[in-house]
Amino acid sequence: AREQLQAYLDTAIALAKEVGPVFKDGFWRTGQFAAGNDFAAIDKMGNEADCVTAVDCHIEKVIFSRLREIYPEHKFVGEETTAEIGNEYKVTDDPTWVVDPVDGTNNFVHHFPYTGISIGLTVNKEPVVGVLYLPILDELYTAAKGLGAQLNGQSLPLLNSPALTTPTALSQCAMLSEHGSLRSESYIKSRFDTFQRLLLEKEKGGASVRNLRITGSAASDLALVAKGAAEIYWEAGPHAWDYAAGVVLVLESGGAVFDGAGWWGSSIPEDERSLQPLNIWKRKILAIRHMPDLPGKPGSGHEIQKQLAADV
Ligand code: IPD
Repeated sequence: AREQLQAYLDTAIALAKEVGPVFKDGFWRTGQFAAGNDFAAIDKMGNEADCVTAVDCHIEKVIFSRLREIYPEHKFVGEETTAEIGNEYKVTDDPTWVVDPVDGTNNFVHHFPYTGISIGLTVNKEPVVGVLYLPILDELYTAAKGLGAQLNGQSLPLLNSPALTTPTALSQCAMLSEHGSLRSESYIKSRFDTFQRLLLEKEKGGASVRNLRITGSAASDLALVAKGAAEIYWEAGPHAWDYAAGVVLVLESGGAVFDGAGWWGSSIPEDERSLQPLNIWKRKILAIRHMPDLPGKPGSGHEIQKQLAADV
């Protein structure tokens, strides 16, 4: 199984590298003002905050056609293919490649560098391989279950000084989140209410996070947690393709993930883990980096979970 996973990982890495040049080239040509040419950003269903480009569609086609050649028996879920068929996809136990050809499409269109190619693989619905390539930042994140996580070949997390890796309170944690692309008052309000609470709770005797960052790319957020550049990422609403690869990066760098039903990850005590394999199809996700002192204690992963649990 180890060899098989390594082979899947190698395939995903080769594919990400193959499409990297198209991504880089398209990054500077694509734009919101490129109307009328091949590189114009196109709104999905009239929502300017949710767009697609020719680069997204091209990269997804290349990745899926290569994967179909190598693994004809596998299943495929991709952001653009799924959008074409009305956002319907079936979830099975079969090996399933879950791909976002351009995560952070808004960033791509605005030339903001947190945008990349996310390739995940699930087996029995559990994410087991994750590759995220951020071509503009020259960062290639790779991970497979039991094989560890790496950034450009260096093991993650990058920081391993205990003083740096083990915050003991929420107030020592930097948090990443996203406001998504839906523009309804209730959706935006629920997210900003949560942000407000997480930043102000200390004033009311509770626990606040140290700061909040929004990169515009869920996949990048997870990579930043895996790297050790933030302690927490939370989002309710992203699709599986936004984070299938990223959760493997977090888990394999020693972090933990809460999928809306339970915790998953080796840093969570056995009896507190979800009994089901991590279910990435739930569209609610909380990921924390390796913080061995936190679970079960005040200011812990559980407290973070409690604070966020009510928010969808
Ligand atoms: C989006 C980004 C964003 C997240 C949205 C996603 P896309 O992906 O990951 O951070 O908030 O939920 O849809 O559409 O740019 O590939």
